[in-house]
Amino acid sequence: MKVLITGAAGFLGSHLADWFVKNGDTVVGIDNLIGGYRDNVNQKVDFHELNLIEYEKILLLFEGVDLVYHCAATAYEGLSVFSPRLVTQNIVDASIATITASIAQKVVRFVFCSSMARYGAQRVPFTEEMVPLPQDPYGIGKVAAENLLVNLARVHGMEYVIAVPHNIIGPRQKYDDPYRNVAAIMINRMLQGEQPIIYGDGTQKRCFSFVQDDLHPLVKLAIAPVVGEVINIGPDEEFVSINELAEVIGRILDFKVKPIYVKDRPQEVKLANCSADKARRLLGYQTTYTLEQGLREMAAYVKKRGPKPFDYHLPLEIVNEKTPDTWKDRLI
Ligand SMILES: NC(=O)c1ccc[n+]([C@@H]2O[C@H](COP(=O)([O-])OP(=O)(O)OC[C@H]3O[C@@H](n4cnc5c(N)ncnc54)[C@H](O)[C@@H]3O)[C@@H](O)[C@H]2O)c1
Repeated sequence: MKVLITGAAGFLGSHLADWFVKNGDTVVGIDNLIGGYRDNVNQKVDFHELNLIEYEKILLLFEGVDLVYHCAATAYEGLSVFSPRLVTQNIVDASIATITASIAQKVVRFVFCSSMARYGAQRVPFTEEMVPLPQDPYGIGKVAAENLLVNLARVHGMEYVIAVPHNIIGPRQKYDDPYRNVAAIMINRMLQGEQPIIYGDGTQKRCFSFVQDDLHPLVKLAIAPVVGEVINIGPDEEFVSINELAEVIGRILDFKVKPIYVKDRPQEVKLANCSADKARRLLGYQTTYTLEQGLREMAAYVKKRGPKPFDYHLPLEIVNEKTPDTWKDRLI
């Protein structure tokens, strides 16, 4: 099978690429490196450093492709409130280019990586039949891309599935990025002797999933009879607060945690947790890593690659009194 993975240098895309390479499939990867690391890319991947938005440049790469995993996105939910143009461009424009190229080249199945942000602030746990109510530009962009996919795939007869991963942790996740990935930021800071920074009072809760646990159900989407489905991917156990997350990381790194609390970020959802019932039922989803085990693997990865100073590599488009000082004044 020929598989094309967008975001192949990113966290999830690179793990998926490894899996398909190991399975003996031909893997084409596209990434413009706005988010991932070049060294995440498996050497057997036919890799192209390209911006998906440049449709004419990517179109030929879809020739003969059976399956597309569209993982590329500027996965920056908090930042999307302050850099909405940049973030949505790499979600909406990049997605429509990928969808169009896939249909034009007769791809059989398209797996779209959406986000829990599609649910907004509805009651938890989020279930797939809920009407999307995103409350920030990142989530709005994801829902727009989903709608474009559903519309065009139905008209032109391409199989599609919408995967909804959430709060994934593990090796290869970008950890020197001040704009996202709370666990990775905390690990990178603590390894440099710095206290974790927490937005708000730290009682906001999330369910973290270890990347290997997400990989199995995601890979099953390639052939399972799930066309047209939306499926949450990730655990619904161990719903923890950000304060608890900091404590667990402190314990793993033997670091005495005294968090630095800063004002909360606009539009941040307090309670976000997805039901895994549908993934269990349709894909045999199982959680095999506890939060602590997942965080240990991630800390080992950051230690091995080396803690790094944070890189403010993306511009803030809107700077006003609502913009977090951590970003405005580069405090992370
Ligand atoms: N990691 C999570 O916890 C999580 C949670 C929910 C949803 N998701 C979604 O899963 C997907 C993968 O997330 P991830 O954690 O691997 O993120 P990531 O940032 O590690 O990977 C995304 C990759 O897409 C690339 N990219 C972005 N815009 C591009 C463009 N215009 N052209 C080409 N490449 C581009 C980036 O360089 C990056 O390498 C994303 O769509 C994300 O929104 C992830």
